[in-house]
Amino acid sequence: MNKNYRGRRRTPYGPALILLVLAALAAGAFFLSRRPDGSPPPQSSPVLPGGADVRTPLSEHVVTPSGIPCTRRELGEEALYTGELILVNNQVLYRFPQEQELVSIYEEKSDGYFVRDMEVFLSPTAMPALNSLLDAFRAQGGGKTINVVAGYRDRAYQQHLFDQSAQRNGQDHAEKYVAQPGGSEHHTGLVVDFSILHADGSSGDYDGSGEYAWINENCQDYGWVVRYEEGKEALTGIWDEPWHFRYVGVPHATEMARRGLCLEEYIDLLRQYPFDGEHLTIQCAAGTYEVWFCQGSAAYLPDSGEWSVSGNNVDGLVVTCKTPE
Ligand code: DAL
Repeated sequence: MNKNYRGRRRTPYGPALILLVLAALAAGAFFLSRRPDGSPPPQSSPVLPGGADVRTPLSEHVVTPSGIPCTRRELGEEALYTGELILVNNQVLYRFPQEQELVSIYEEKSDGYFVRDMEVFLSPTAMPALNSLLDAFRAQGGGKTINVVAGYRDRAYQQHLFDQSAQRNGQDHAEKYVAQPGGSEHHTGLVVDFSILHADGSSGDYDGSGEYAWINENCQDYGWVVRYEEGKEALTGIWDEPWHFRYVGVPHATEMARRGLCLEEYIDLLRQYPFDGEHLTIQCAAGTYEVWFCQGSAAYLPDSGEWSVSGNNVDGLVVTCKTPE
């Protein structure tokens, strides 16, 4: 699998190689952009938020009961497994894409927190939301002690962590706190784990108590949920992890927190709001949103406005549309 690291890239051959590659790309782009008769190619399909291709419209325009004009479009199977709302656990495995865009938290973070090293990566979708959450924590009086100790993990590293935990703490403990390779939502790049790092160099486990309770109680306003909470073990398969935060976006994080649902429950809930039925309305810090579910890989997408679409990694697509003020 390739990982696209956005931001600073390194090359052993320095600027000369960069210039050579740029010149070759420019020449290639020029020739590829011309058809045999010398005319420019037709416009390619636009790309949806979340990266899926907009393919051929399947029907004429349809207007939702609240007045949002939509067109039904086929997005392709990959769209089912892509986006902020994908469910990943030991039963619903992550589908590793050919390429996964990631950024180094070290290179993109704000000043108010630490990161373990330069090799902790996150999806570019979640990166601004991490800065917003931890900047807000500082602004309301929190100290500079949060250390982001985990982000994206590949399958091999997850296997290593599971084996290490089983060796140190026993198989039973490992199964409670470490997902199986393929079943970890760290694979998505939408997850961070926090630890504490004090100015005197001492460190500690993050348990979301004391001054850190603010983070666990308010993270939904910045798009994050505490993914593994006490009482949900039978659904998530994982024990209480107050340090593990999953990005799902502000509207859905707000609704999950309001209803007290883990992602397994929330994905089930969203199926109750099909396009041709009642839609879910979410009021949150970012505004008011209308949400509907479409089974399969075709979805009714708004013709304009601010909206996004995400697969659920199981059987359908969730459309989230901001309603005009
Ligand atoms: N600690 C979480 C469950 C993981 O390994 O993905």
